[in-house]
Amino acid sequence: MLRVAVCVSGGGTNLQAIIDAVANGTIRNTQLVRVISNKPGAYALERAAKAGIEGVTVARKDFADKESFHKGLIAAIDAAEPDLIVLAGFLVVLPQELVKKYSGKIINIHPSLIPSFCGDGFYGLKVHEAALARGVKVTGATVHFVDEGTDTGPIIAQKAVYVQEGDTPETLQRRVMEEAEWILLPQVIDQIANGQL
Ligand code: GAR
Repeated sequence: MLRVAVCVSGGGTNLQAIIDAVANGTIRNTQLVRVISNKPGAYALERAAKAGIEGVTVARKDFADKESFHKGLIAAIDAAEPDLIVLAGFLVVLPQELVKKYSGKIINIHPSLIPSFCGDGFYGLKVHEAALARGVKVTGATVHFVDEGTDTGPIIAQKAVYVQEGDTPETLQRRVMEEAEWILLPQVIDQIANGQL
């Protein structure tokens, strides 16, 4: 069984897609061992609780400085003894120590086709605002390994999504989630859990 810890910051629709995929067998040989949120009260924590998964909050405001926050984050992850860490809308730049310690064992979902609309400042709705502002006709989502940079790690999988006439950042975000993110992330976890990657 692959032990998976999921890190979240918000609504947790990607977390939900993972929970559902484990429940219905789309993700095989996988146990969701802990959900870690940096946002107290994030709806993702409720999703975890409903699914019987332990939820933990590690919030920057509860620590005196960044260094102790990072220590707390690493401790919360270590305690779960994960084989894989999934960043599912986790809007925290990971401490280098964590990236090194779990090298090759951290994956992230990003809501664009990397290398477009990624890196510092590109997260959540901002990514879709930028894609629409640039006038691209195709966007999508990317799952990649996490390295020391922001969205620079090796790409594992990508799925394209067409932009439609009249799209707003919100409608585009929703379509990218439905057509790409919620499919791609469970697929990649299943592949890792079953030695296909
Ligand atoms: C998702 O669209 C995810 O790709 C994005 O945040 C959203 C979280 O939604 N992540 C990033 O932008 C990371 N750079 P969710 O909480 O409903 O899964």
